[in-house]
Amino acid sequence: MSGLIEIKDLKVHYPIRSGFLNRVTDYVYAVDGVDLSFEEGKTYGLVGESGSGKSTIGKAIVGLEKITSGEIYYNGKDVSKEARKRRSDYRQNVQMIFQDAMSSFNPKKRIVDVLAEPIRNFTNMTPDEERRRMIELLDIVGLTEDALTKYPHQFSGGQRQRIGVARAVAINPKLIIADEPVSALDLSVQAQVLNFMKRIQEEYNVSYLFISHDLGVVKHMCDEIAIMYRGRFTEYGNKEDIYEDPQHIYTRRLLSAIPQIDPNNRDEHKKNRLRVEKIYQENQSKYFSENGRVYDLKAVSDTHSVALKDVSSTLEGGA
Ligand SMILES: Nc1ncnc2c1ncn2[C@@H]1O[C@H](COP(=O)(O)OP(=O)(O)OP(=O)(O)O)[C@@H](O)[C@H]1O
Ligand SMILES: [Mg+2]
Repeated sequence: MSGLIEIKDLKVHYPIRSGFLNRVTDYVYAVDGVDLSFEEGKTYGLVGESGSGKSTIGKAIVGLEKITSGEIYYNGKDVSKEARKRRSDYRQNVQMIFQDAMSSFNPKKRIVDVLAEPIRNFTNMTPDEERRRMIELLDIVGLTEDALTKYPHQFSGGQRQRIGVARAVAINPKLIIADEPVSALDLSVQAQVLNFMKRIQEEYNVSYLFISHDLGVVKHMCDEIAIMYRGRFTEYGNKEDIYEDPQHIYTRRLLSAIPQIDPNNRDEHKKNRLRVEKIYQENQSKYFSENGRVYDLKAVSDTHSVALKDVSSTLEGGA
């Protein structure tokens, strides 16, 4: 085991029940065999289209979703059974930020109670220490003490997300899973929240798993990126691997879908997008098995792996 947290062959299958007897008739293979390794102080991206299984991975790692099979190693120990216990050492060290803080906060709780919850669950601070810690946390995300007595609905979306960040870092976790943390925000507010997250990382050396459906957003945040399709990884690599040398057609499809801001490039961008879409439609079998399953990842370099049937095959239509 090399990483701080290692995920091995993780599977989460949801049963589908139907009929009069409500029997399990099939499964949704939401996550179907993924490996991930987290080192300290790094940011990992998890990108894929809606329904590909991103949130399910996140929830399984923080223990909010039951895993069907696979292991989670923390400091070399298999904690997959402990991950769902509320107060384990592992649970303290892995926290989550949700896309919509409004629905993840209890609307009847003031911010003082929102922030106190993890502190009381996992530490033994005196009321004074607790209050000092909360003010410090608000300060970290650019808010002041008077926020403590307010309710979630009294904040803007960006402010609420910052409180979500403060709550997640309250007990100094090692890993924070950020599930689309800025997707609901305006561009300028997105940048602001991301900056707070970066600053917190520099100060506390926390790692992030940053979940997004948009490769454009994760580009500036992430050291390593996993591309996900139908519960499996199609490609894994560092920033250069994914953005400069994408090998899987699905990765190229996501790249071609990044909105183009420069109007001079729009025509070229559109042409490229149509070209990639055509390759994608016509060459499914090259990249996906007969039943549409993503192949196992195979290493193409020290940092880069791709789910191709045969790694020596090259991309149709030029890279
Ligand atoms: N509780 C559940 N019971 C049954 N199926 C579920 C459940 N939760 C998720 N799914 C299914 O599992 C698959 C993966 O869902 P998931 O929420 O992980 O996707 P996602 O990549 O986060 O999508 P999005 O970008 O829309 O948030 C989807 O097909 C979804 O319908
Ligand atoms: Mg999701």
